Amino acid sequence: MDLRIAVLGGDGIGPEVTAEAVKVLDAIGRRYGHEFTYITGPVGGTAIDMTGSALPADTMNIVLGSDAVLFGAVGGPKWDDPVAKVRPEDGILALRKGLGLYANLRPCKVYEQLIDTSPIRPERLVDVDFIIVRELTGGLYFGKPKRRWENSRGRRAVDTLAYSEKEIERVVRIGFELARDRRKRLHSLDKMNVMESSRLWREVATEVGIEYPDVELIHMLADNAAMQIITQPSIFDVIVAENMFGDILSDEAAVIGGSLGMLPSASISSLPPKNGRRRRGGKPALYEPIHGSAPDIAGKSLANPMASILSSAMLLRFSAGLNTEADAIEKAVDSVLSEGYRTLDISSGTDRPLTTTQVGDMIAGLVSS
Ligand code: IPM
Ligand code: MG
Repeated sequence: MDLRIAVLGGDGIGPEVTAEAVKVLDAIGRRYGHEFTYITGPVGGTAIDMTGSALPADTMNIVLGSDAVLFGAVGGPKWDDPVAKVRPEDGILALRKGLGLYANLRPCKVYEQLIDTSPIRPERLVDVDFIIVRELTGGLYFGKPKRRWENSRGRRAVDTLAYSEKEIERVVRIGFELARDRRKRLHSLDKMNVMESSRLWREVATEVGIEYPDVELIHMLADNAAMQIITQPSIFDVIVAENMFGDILSDEAAVIGGSLGMLPSASISSLPPKNGRRRRGGKPALYEPIHGSAPDIAGKSLANPMASILSSAMLLRFSAGLNTEADAIEKAVDSVLSEGYRTLDISSGTDRPLTTTQVGDMIAGLVSS
């Protein structure tokens, strides 16, 4: 299969981890006879420095001409001026919005090999395997008005949490569809005790639920969910939530497995066809680790490339229907962990951690043999 992949490394550790994902994809291409082409372009702070824009038109054109996007991370202290006109984060937000990627899938898996690195007691980690479906193109991130001003009484700022029923319906539906193929339980999060938008969210989720009688729908207040994710994470199968709730809770969910450096994500505008075929046409989906640019360790080859490598597995599965190849990557990551190889974030402190490149080499080696 021919696949054109836009590789946007971005800032900080982004380019380091996507380079390892490309290494692994190349190994997959050789082993299974696929032709993967990579086109790169600047995004985020790096792009601001070069062009003044966090998502230059040239980069967007590369993206629009591709079958899928492998994204690194954006942001860093250099661009953190709170009153700056452009921010690195604008790059990823514009991509999500511009590509219509309204559903962000963040699987939370606990690797048995890493149970010791988790901040949670091991007995609570038994059977933990859930996926967060985060709404990605609406809610607090995009609602208008969104601005800051100053008057005689001082400085003020506003963000808006707005949703239409259509926006809620389509993302909740993705949650139901995923749950149907898993353990058939969907937790829909909201703050209906406080917010109008949440009351609409709950109403629409209930309505969509009528079409999925085989899936158990549980409404849960988002703050309660934050607690349950820590105290009894195994109750969850699929969680669907508003953009900002999903952002916060997915970081929380990510560390129960031991490290933010392990978890991939897929941002999509529809689920792949069930017949395993590749979807043709339309805008590309985007795959990125859930971690950020980690400026403190950038350029030191200390970052864990597994989240990016696992994102490339999701890319093959969702954008190309290459399930065997995706399985091979996931299996290789599992084996590397089983053999005890660790980057700094998941090393227990006593052993000598491996570099980003060494871990990438090992995984690439395993998928090609
Ligand atoms: C994420 C990140 C982004 C977000 C930032 C970088 C804009 O935290 O993907 O979770 O808030 O969505
Ligand atoms: Mg986040």
